[in-house]
Amino acid sequence: MGKIKIALIGIGNCASSLMQGIYYYNDKDPKDAIGLMHWDVGGYKPYDIEVVTAIDIDKRKVNKDVGEAIFAKPNCTTMFYKDVPKIGVDVIMGKVLDGIGPHMKEFPEDQTFVVSEAKEADVVSVLTKSGAEIALNYLPVGSEEATRFYVNCCLEANVAFINCVPVFIASKKEFVEKFKQKNLPIIGDDVKAQIGATITHRTLAQLFVDRGVKLDRTYQLNTGGNTDFLNMLAQERLKSKKISKTEAVQSVLNKPLEPENIHIGPSDYVPWQKDNKVCFLRMEGRVFGDVPMNLELRLSVEDSPNSAGCAIDAIRCCKLALDRGIGGVLSSISAYTMKHPPQQFPDNKAKDMVREFMQGERQS
Ligand SMILES: NC(=O)c1ccc[n+]([C@@H]2O[C@H](COP(=O)([O-])OP(=O)(O)OC[C@H]3O[C@@H](n4cnc5c(N)ncnc54)[C@H](O)[C@@H]3O)[C@@H](O)[C@H]2O)c1
Repeated sequence: MGKIKIALIGIGNCASSLMQGIYYYNDKDPKDAIGLMHWDVGGYKPYDIEVVTAIDIDKRKVNKDVGEAIFAKPNCTTMFYKDVPKIGVDVIMGKVLDGIGPHMKEFPEDQTFVVSEAKEADVVSVLTKSGAEIALNYLPVGSEEATRFYVNCCLEANVAFINCVPVFIASKKEFVEKFKQKNLPIIGDDVKAQIGATITHRTLAQLFVDRGVKLDRTYQLNTGGNTDFLNMLAQERLKSKKISKTEAVQSVLNKPLEPENIHIGPSDYVPWQKDNKVCFLRMEGRVFGDVPMNLELRLSVEDSPNSAGCAIDAIRCCKLALDRGIGGVLSSISAYTMKHPPQQFPDNKAKDMVREFMQGERQS
């Protein structure tokens, strides 16, 4: 099989974990490769992914080799594979637009973004020259304009798109049509974790439904200490994130809860937590005879490797679609790996759909 050439937009913690993973799995035997949903996706292995372009705006990353930039501040995720080599691809300067919230300036440099003074690159031309086939969007939450800018660059450069952030692209008709017209696949929006707050909350909500328990009220409070959580202190940047996370849970219920009975969101920034995310979840319901019960759960995960576990399958499914000449939304892998896909499916159904897609038994 050939290589899968990807462009990374935003070289933060998620990009770091993904790139570390590509090298980590390089010398693994499939038998003892821990942490993957699929070793082989239509013939593609995790190490078949190659980063050919990288875009950021931070002075500690721009003009550095991407193999080095993934470990630069303010990135703080765990280094599970420190020997990522320099690969001869320098991070280019992107377009800032609304990528950085004004409140980010109030924090120490080690914790926040610092804009580079380098000249903005011509993104379309860089994408085209690099031979990138698929771009992954890893911009901060609330980067509405910046995301649309990169989406348009990808359309112009004929690059497929995986939207890992909660800006609605794959779930918006207007953009989906554009990708369809160009016969380019698109996956999105807002990547899930392998075992994170969303999938756990969805699974438990499904359990309540399956066991005939009426869910009356629930909350999901999340804390973390990475730039993602720092960025999300600005309430005005959170609108889509809250919709994405809340709909992911509401969609498994027979009847959605009234808004006052469901509260889901990033809740606070705790610097020393770094990339460790802690989720506090409470569900209150009624069982047989209208008798009350409640459930409390605390989940602690390293945020970014957890998302890379989903991204690594999304990339390979996207490549399969390119190989098969399929454009437009890939509904199965979007439902399985994204919080806000164009169409929600129960996770077990989405899993079967992905298997069928990988085996070439379904179109999208
Ligand atoms: N960590 C997870 O598990 C997870 C899960 C779901 C979704 N996400 C989403 O994925 C996105 C990335 O997460 P992360 O943890 O890597 O974030 P991060 O804060 O570590 O990285 C964001 C990167 O984008 C860069 N950037 C900012 N504006 C830019 C612009 N205009 N052009 C190019 N680069 C720009 C920043 O310099 C930084 O390197 C976030 O939106 C996050 O909510 C993350």
